[in-house]
Amino acid sequence: MDDIRFQALIVTEDENNQFNRTVSERMLHDLPQGQVLIRVCYSSLNYKDALSASGNKGVTRQYPHTPGIDAAGVVAESSDPTFMPGDQVLVTGFDLGMNTSGGFAEYIRVPADWVVPLPTGMSLREAMVYGTAGFTAALSCYRLINNGVLPEQGPVLVTGATGGVGSIAVALLAKSGYEVVAVTTKVNEIAYLQEIGAKEILSAVEADDQSGRPLLRPRWAGVVDTVGGNILSSAIKATRYGGTVTCCGNVTSGELHTSIYPFILNGISLLGIDSVNFPNPLRTQVWNRLATEWKLDHLETITTELPGLESLEERIALILQGKSRGRVIVKIALP
Ligand SMILES: NC(=O)c1ccc[n+]([C@@H]2O[C@H](COP(=O)([O-])OP(=O)(O)OC[C@H]3O[C@@H](n4cnc5c(N)ncnc54)[C@H](OP(=O)(O)O)[C@@H]3O)[C@@H](O)[C@H]2O)c1
Repeated sequence: MDDIRFQALIVTEDENNQFNRTVSERMLHDLPQGQVLIRVCYSSLNYKDALSASGNKGVTRQYPHTPGIDAAGVVAESSDPTFMPGDQVLVTGFDLGMNTSGGFAEYIRVPADWVVPLPTGMSLREAMVYGTAGFTAALSCYRLINNGVLPEQGPVLVTGATGGVGSIAVALLAKSGYEVVAVTTKVNEIAYLQEIGAKEILSAVEADDQSGRPLLRPRWAGVVDTVGGNILSSAIKATRYGGTVTCCGNVTSGELHTSIYPFILNGISLLGIDSVNFPNPLRTQVWNRLATEWKLDHLETITTELPGLESLEERIALILQGKSRGRVIVKIALP
């Protein structure tokens, strides 16, 4: 099979350190070693993919490279007995699309322990509507709930609410009975946020406290933060006694300036979320939950489907500018 040719998005670096993207041919023997060869049917675009596709060396050290931290498809070959040719599977995170050739291609080859069987009740397309963003939103909600945040304790704040992680967190928490307050930079997306379940919408300016006070009026029983920086520290200051804040993203900043007062006076918890190396079997359990009690009613509202790898170009620019909405999936082949 190694002489099979396939299409992939390839990012190259030129002698002036400029990065160029083309869709061109690769061969199976170009792929890294691994137990499972997967024919990719759908992939999705995450913020991290846009960083990799534009030469961010914190995400991808060496080019030429094929980004794509998510892939869903059909096993073509497997040397691991857990998977058989024809099995429908998904891969998100680990090193896929970072320094391992990623999902913006017709084939990936990965270690067997990166591969999750497609949950019963979920299609390959749905798996990529969730993708890393949905899995991260699900992990954030899972950690909030396990840390004792209940719907009757008060509203839960979601920042970066129209983004991939944010949109799925809003919809998932609303479906689970929480009153969701959404923070957005996009005041023109109020109707979208209401449709997916937000009860109240704050502008990013309102959520970005500039008073310098160590504590603010306690409002949030929980927070799912996707943006970091001062919006996260403002949310921490406004979290109610005993509340929980999860943080997963750094869209506005990787810095967090806070004092110890929300922690020692209000007893709040700050939980870090990592979807990349989150281990099995809990990884598979969270995916299964997304196919059952957390299966969302608003997936199509959240989804933009691109017809092929060529269409990724303009969406990469949009997501880097913080202008993307919901989840962007790319159709690569029919199952
Ligand atoms: N820890 C993990 O395992 C993990 C996994 C997945 C993602 N992440 C991280 O989570 C973050 C979100 O990822 P994503 O895929 O959801 O990205 P995304 O789709 O681009 O969403 C990010 C959202 O952040 C908001 N935003 C952008 N610029 C902003 C600014 N200057 N000020 C305030 N808000 C701004 C925007 O939403 P609004 O306009 O609605 O505010 C934007 O849509 C990224 O930092 C990503 O790297 C981490």
